[in-house]
Amino acid sequence: MGQLEKSTSVHISEEDIAQYRENGFARVHNIISKEEAARYAERVMEIYEERKVSGDFGGGGNVDVLRQIVNVWSCDEVMKELTFHPNVLAAVKAFAGVPLRLWHDHILIKDPHNNAPTQFHQDQPYWPHANSVNPISVWIALVDVPVEKGCMSFIPGSQSRDDLPLQYLDDERSLFGICPELEWEPRVTLPLKAGDCTFHHGRCAHMANANATDNHRIAHVAIFTDRDTIYTGIDHAVTTGRGYTEGETLPDEHFPQI
Ligand code: SIN
Ligand code: NI
Repeated sequence: MGQLEKSTSVHISEEDIAQYRENGFARVHNIISKEEAARYAERVMEIYEERKVSGDFGGGGNVDVLRQIVNVWSCDEVMKELTFHPNVLAAVKAFAGVPLRLWHDHILIKDPHNNAPTQFHQDQPYWPHANSVNPISVWIALVDVPVEKGCMSFIPGSQSRDDLPLQYLDDERSLFGICPELEWEPRVTLPLKAGDCTFHHGRCAHMANANATDNHRIAHVAIFTDRDTIYTGIDHAVTTGRGYTEGETLPDEHFPQI
């Protein structure tokens, strides 16, 4: 990172941790410096342009909603620094409070005027995981992300609903069809400046607005799961066909302990 001004260490207070555990999400300002965010945003756009040529996006999903580049830590040294940034690791460990491993990371871009929100959903039903009660994602804004550019909103306390089946990111009725009472809960919308982030529990329901601006919305997300998570074998882009053993923990080599 050369002469860049690096972020200083981040402080997560006991009150921050208590609020995260109650609400299922938290916002932290300046998890990385603005200079770091700008450098990573530049690198993301280089990778994005390369992938547009190769057509290699992996991850699947509806490309109008999100352009995803999955497991970028394993193929790009610059982005790997961000996924394993000391501030990120210190904060996820403090919030989760249990031993963790990386599940995967992904770059999440919303193209300018993509016209498609990411609809309310919980993340955990997508994952081939059992024995994981403290999964945590960090969503780092690499550019300023005001409401109209597609920042995240959360339903406080919804992480307690650990019994719900999969909800679709491109269907605004999906979560509320399955769990009507959540429609009437308050929602908290958290705009972020470049270098700020949100953390959320894997069962905390969240959405992001469409990007109504002329510029890309660029976020980097890293997801950590309980170290003792058991692989269940359900279909997922980062595990299917890789020969992992159902009923066992995820192997350290591809899902590093932190
Ligand atoms: C988004 O970035 O639009 C959604 C992220 C998420 O669902 O975790
Ligand atoms: Ni999500």
